[in-house]
Amino acid sequence: MRRSLPVVCLALLALALAGTALAGNGGFAPAAPASPNENGIRAVYWLILGLTGGIFVIVEAALVVFIVRYRSRGRSREAEGPQVIGHTNLELAWTVGPVLILAVIAAFVFYKVGGIRNAPAATGGAETVRIEGHQFYWEFVYPNGAVSINTLRVPENRKIELDIVSADVAHSWWVPALGGKLDAIPGQTNRESFRATKLGTFRGQCAEFCGIQHAAMLAYVQVLPAGKYDSWVRQRLASPSEVGRETFQGVCATCHGLSGQGDIGPAIAQRPLLADRAALTKLLRNGGVKMPAVGKTWSDAQLKAALDYLAKRFKTGSGSGG
Ligand code: CUA
Repeated sequence: MRRSLPVVCLALLALALAGTALAGNGGFAPAAPASPNENGIRAVYWLILGLTGGIFVIVEAALVVFIVRYRSRGRSREAEGPQVIGHTNLELAWTVGPVLILAVIAAFVFYKVGGIRNAPAATGGAETVRIEGHQFYWEFVYPNGAVSINTLRVPENRKIELDIVSADVAHSWWVPALGGKLDAIPGQTNRESFRATKLGTFRGQCAEFCGIQHAAMLAYVQVLPAGKYDSWVRQRLASPSEVGRETFQGVCATCHGLSGQGDIGPAIAQRPLLADRAALTKLLRNGGVKMPAVGKTWSDAQLKAALDYLAKRFKTGSGSGG
């Protein structure tokens, strides 16, 4: 039993590390950065991993050396070994060492934290987007009033200022490739900014437990070339049908299914309520027994877009109309 213990320990360690290595993102590394903000987080991560990894190796090596060197060699259990009382230099070293290490970490974090929380002004100007956390979706409101659900579009290399709010309970905005997380708290606006330096779509996830569909509260950030973004945001304002479709898919379908067939929420496809605009408006604005007030903060235009889409898609009686 004694001899097999180290083998068991090594096997457990190997198993633990194998999972990490296979987890993607290069194993131990955080998400591949697509913004200077995330570069800062990575730099802090590697510094702390390097220091703590080094300490781990030193401590474990010392442990092994002591186990081997001071083993009992057949001495009786009661025999006392030679006594060592105090060693001033050693005690100074293990007091000053950790203080220095902590000072290095603190200094480096303070040096980096500004760039993690906020992007410096970019030559391409700045753009302010309001991010609303809702049970259970993200709504993005662009400077011109256009909205999108769950997928935020941003221009490449332009500073994006985020005003993060919540319409109901606490959520947390987090897209790892683009920067740190920031809570969406009712009654408060939290601000951060970032600048995306890579084209592509980056995935995020609500990072604060907010109710039964918290896990389904995904977020995507699509980074577009600046010109393409500008035309998209202009076109989106003039496309209520797209807003209606996105609202159904991103808001209603999360609980009622993509065909309204029901999921954790009841089936809605055949409900006569869908044809009653006044009653439906009341339900969306105020919520129901179990349903959150998903449309509490929608503009009248977005509410109309959603009602029009529902009416077109689920013509009463015909099930899946469109
Ligand atoms: Cu929103 Cu969890």
